[in-house]
Amino acid sequence: MKISFGSKPWIYPQPVLIIGTYDEDGTPDAMNAAWGGIGDTEEIRICLSSNHKTVKNLLAKKAFTVSMATKKTVAECDYFGLASGNQVKDKIAKVNFHSVHAEHVDAPYFEELPLTFECTLISYDEETGDLRGKIENTLADESILTNGKIDPEKLEPIAFDGVNHTYLLVKGVVADAFSCGKKFLK
Ligand SMILES: Cc1cc2nc3c(=O)[nH]c(=O)nc-3n(C[C@H](O)[C@H](O)[C@H](O)COP(=O)(O)O)c2cc1C
Repeated sequence: MKISFGSKPWIYPQPVLIIGTYDEDGTPDAMNAAWGGIGDTEEIRICLSSNHKTVKNLLAKKAFTVSMATKKTVAECDYFGLASGNQVKDKIAKVNFHSVHAEHVDAPYFEELPLTFECTLISYDEETGDLRGKIENTLADESILTNGKIDPEKLEPIAFDGVNHTYLLVKGVVADAFSCGKKFLK
């Protein structure tokens, strides 16, 4: 038997994305966003409320970074979702993260977050909160690579559980994609 819950945004896994921006003084900011994902091959889409410092920053700079939150940095990443750059001048210093100016866009990335997308702004709709960004470059720390490829076991990405309000560890390979279903093609 199935139970109806009405209209709920319960996707598993829901990625935990950390958006990095610079403010008007060049101070880096970071916010936590779980309502987002890949919109197209080179496009990231996130639903962002317009009152965030992050939104003001990315509209001014036309650029931002998006990093995956990880098991090791879970408390810092949660903090980025609890405090606002509108009230706290330097959230990055508060958690002892180290920010670096991205090479391809005018936005910071963070040494402590090993997988980052450098994005330019495509569009932002203040009514719907729909942010679209073009992925200009993808940066991966050497420490999360195995044979030159991203190794999720090393990255240890976390997911947001919108039902129980927890962070889940995304872990383990179940099967090969584009392959394990082939038996049904016959
Ligand atoms: C787990 C989690 C997920 C969040 N996801 C989003 C989101 O997808 N969109 C959004 O607008 N705010 C989201 N927030 C709220 C912002 O991260 C929060 O308001 C933050 O303080 C904004 O920071 P800023 O003002 O420095 O940009 C989320 C917060 C948490 C803790």
